[in-house]
Amino acid sequence: MYKGTTFTRFLIAEQRKFPGATGEFTSLLTELATAAKIIAHEVNRAGLGNILGAAGRTNVQGEQVQKLDEFANETIIRMVDHTGHLAGMVSEEMEDIFHIQEHHLRGKYLLLFDPLDGSSNIDVSVGVGTIFGIHRKITPGEDATPEDFLQKGRAQLCAGYLLYGSSTMLVYTAGQGVHGFTLDPNVGEFLLSHEQMTIMKRGKTFSVNDGRYFLWDHPIRHYIDDLRGKEGGSPYSSRYIGSLVADFHRNLLKGGIYLYPGDRESPSGKLRLLYEANPLAFIVEQAGGRASSGTEAILDIQPITLHQRTPLFIGSEEDVRMVEAYIKEGGKR
Ligand code: AHG
Ligand code: MN
Ligand code: MN
Repeated sequence: MYKGTTFTRFLIAEQRKFPGATGEFTSLLTELATAAKIIAHEVNRAGLGNILGAAGRTNVQGEQVQKLDEFANETIIRMVDHTGHLAGMVSEEMEDIFHIQEHHLRGKYLLLFDPLDGSSNIDVSVGVGTIFGIHRKITPGEDATPEDFLQKGRAQLCAGYLLYGSSTMLVYTAGQGVHGFTLDPNVGEFLLSHEQMTIMKRGKTFSVNDGRYFLWDHPIRHYIDDLRGKEGGSPYSSRYIGSLVADFHRNLLKGGIYLYPGDRESPSGKLRLLYEANPLAFIVEQAGGRASSGTEAILDIQPITLHQRTPLFIGSEEDVRMVEAYIKEGGKR
């Protein structure tokens, strides 16, 4: 499709490839894109309004909630709760399942999302994002149950992210490749800019919070030492923004690996399986890359709780396989 095609037009064309598709998906994603425009607007002018800083409470993960976390969460809910396409939602900022109110129609899809990823970066004008995944409801009845949300990532129908960076981008997959759209701020539309995105089989960049080096197990330290060229060879470059979406997006375009391993303080790492790791894992696999917990593909993990964490190694396939090999060997080298 030509560059500059609107997101909506692209979705309609994709929808036609599925005989019997009702357009519900297109409508849901269009509403999400509208929510993203509102969030992008607020993020871009964050220093001007009274919306910077902490909201004065901690979330279910015990982390400081920023005002923009709440704003993004509420904006997304407000844009999609009445569409009649959803049975429920799970968000990083809500402890329990969000059930669609009685007075709205309920639908067959479930939305899982991280409303604002990297939110501690807002105060310093660094890129942040939104991550989302969509599942089909699997239990009978209208209301969503925990079982519905605890499906493996492999069952996702669609996943995407928004990057509020030097430009605002929407990247998504519905299982037919990965496509990227850039918000034209004058037109107010997401326009096709990156069709059929693929990731290099091997990159030259690693992204990790290096400050945790001495908390890591030996295989991870060993792996990073080797990327730095300890055993010779030209070293990888280190690039770490501290916003998963931004780090992932760069590596998707340029190749490389993002890792947030488990460590002595946080054995399961930091990132959440359902609405951070799973959507990005679906995208990276569709782009020809790999996402792993270190021992298995992220998309094959059976979730047990809504907000569970997982170690994450994601990016170029050969890079991810390499760190998996170090972990398997257990630092014997
Ligand atoms: P969130 O803002 O949604 O809580 O996510 C923050 C995450 C992720 O975006 C980032 O990659 C990671 O936290 C950074 O963690 P460190 O500060 O430990 O590097
Ligand atoms: Mn996040
Ligand atoms: Mn968040």
